[in-house]
Amino acid sequence: MPAPKSEPSKDESSAPKPNNFLSITDERTGSNYRISVQEGSIRATELHQIRTSPDDYGLLSYDPSFANTASCRSAITFIDGDRGILRYRGYPIEELAASKSYLEVAYLLIHGNLPSKNQLDEWVHNITYHTMLHENVQKFMDGFHHDAHPMGMMVSTLAALSTFYPDAKNITDGHSRYQQAFRLIAKVPTVAAFAHRHSVGMPYIHPSNDLTYTENFLAMMYRPSWTTQYTPDPVLSKALDMLFVLHADHEQNCSSNAMRAVGSSHADPYSCAAAAAAALYGPLHGGASEQVVRMLLEIGTKEHVPQLIRQVKEGKRLLMGFGHRIYKTYDPRARLIQQLAEEVFAVTGRNPLIDVALALEKVALSDDYFIQRRLYPNVDFYSGIIYQAMGFPMDMFPVLFAIPRMSGWLAQWIESVQDPEQKIARPRQIYIGPTERHLEVGVKVPVRRPSRTVIGTRKKAD
Ligand code: CMC
Repeated sequence: MPAPKSEPSKDESSAPKPNNFLSITDERTGSNYRISVQEGSIRATELHQIRTSPDDYGLLSYDPSFANTASCRSAITFIDGDRGILRYRGYPIEELAASKSYLEVAYLLIHGNLPSKNQLDEWVHNITYHTMLHENVQKFMDGFHHDAHPMGMMVSTLAALSTFYPDAKNITDGHSRYQQAFRLIAKVPTVAAFAHRHSVGMPYIHPSNDLTYTENFLAMMYRPSWTTQYTPDPVLSKALDMLFVLHADHEQNCSSNAMRAVGSSHADPYSCAAAAAAALYGPLHGGASEQVVRMLLEIGTKEHVPQLIRQVKEGKRLLMGFGHRIYKTYDPRARLIQQLAEEVFAVTGRNPLIDVALALEKVALSDDYFIQRRLYPNVDFYSGIIYQAMGFPMDMFPVLFAIPRMSGWLAQWIESVQDPEQKIARPRQIYIGPTERHLEVGVKVPVRRPSRTVIGTRKKAD
């Protein structure tokens, strides 16, 4: 099935044309309906009028996992899954990755346009000067067990930040929204680095305002505590910055959907971001890069590739880092990451897992199972190999995804709270449980009497 193209064509005006209607004949009743088609879609609520009787609720569309349902109109990210196109606010990902920094891209996602020199200076200043975590946040993080997964720590700490910024509840105030956006983008690398330092039992390294976004993150990760002198390798901090650009947004993926769904109840953005990070944690989403490297380590050498492919085809396991809901061709981010790997290896030395990955890709792309299902490498296939070469432990990989995705989540959240069409996210269901049934006649229901020892009023039940 070709992926739907949601890009507006240049000559398409927003007014419905006379023939932009879908005619439906309900063969159950013989009734005809004319439903307006706009931007390649119908309003699902239009189906509600299709009934078999006045008592009938009306027709529902059933779409588990939202495979063919648009939940919003968005101006942030465009993907054409058939042609392997990804654009942020109209700019091709290849152009942004080649010439823009992550913070410029974060600004673009949130504001809609690239910043002027002054706007960028202010944006970078705001982010640089909000990287510190409150001492009590550190104490909160100290409470985690020594072997806690850093992504679990990140999810919880993002939620905890909500209690430090009660002003963030004011989601209708544009100034407050902007302030939470740069606070979150500023603090997420600090949370990530502290989670790592905690898990390896090393003292936290506080942020340095004289470093760039990625240099600062690398310094907080790796700087020995006995020195203030640490200069991250410029090739590695630049490569990480590019990886951040590539991971910044990806329209209505599982975690952005979580961000929007939780935001639709008007929760503050820290709580929303915690929910989004939790969604990202799963191995089918941002947790995949960790699973890819574990899989490559298990394969070990190119000779064992056919054995893994066999297991995948027998349905015994997934080929991690392959397949995508939207891309039915090569993920453009995977291609860029594969090229970047060579630049990183020039500094770090070659990660031998790249050769296993390349062999795996070659076999998979020529195998009918993958060809028929249009399964190609996704963003997570090569990213873990680079992260590993850069010295990041495997359980940090989803955390490394969450850092840049924060800007995408925030852009999605800001867009959704400003969208007058959005209401609380509340899907329908098709009930398949028992029809009405009753307790057996004659069963005595115990009568609860108030205890004589209880004094005072009783709490209202929920
Ligand atoms: N290995 C083997 N078979 C696969 C894979 C895979 N990685 N992905 C999909 N398939 C098969 C699937 O079994 C199904 O086969 P059949 O038609 O015989 O039942 C067919 O391809 C269609 O797959 P689907 O499950 O309907 O696809 P989906 O859109 O629901 O799932 C996905 C997308 C990314 C969850 C899935 O491809 C997958 O689990 N991939 C591995 C995990 C992964 O790499 N995740 C990272 C995704 S990209 C970045 C991100 O989102 O964070």
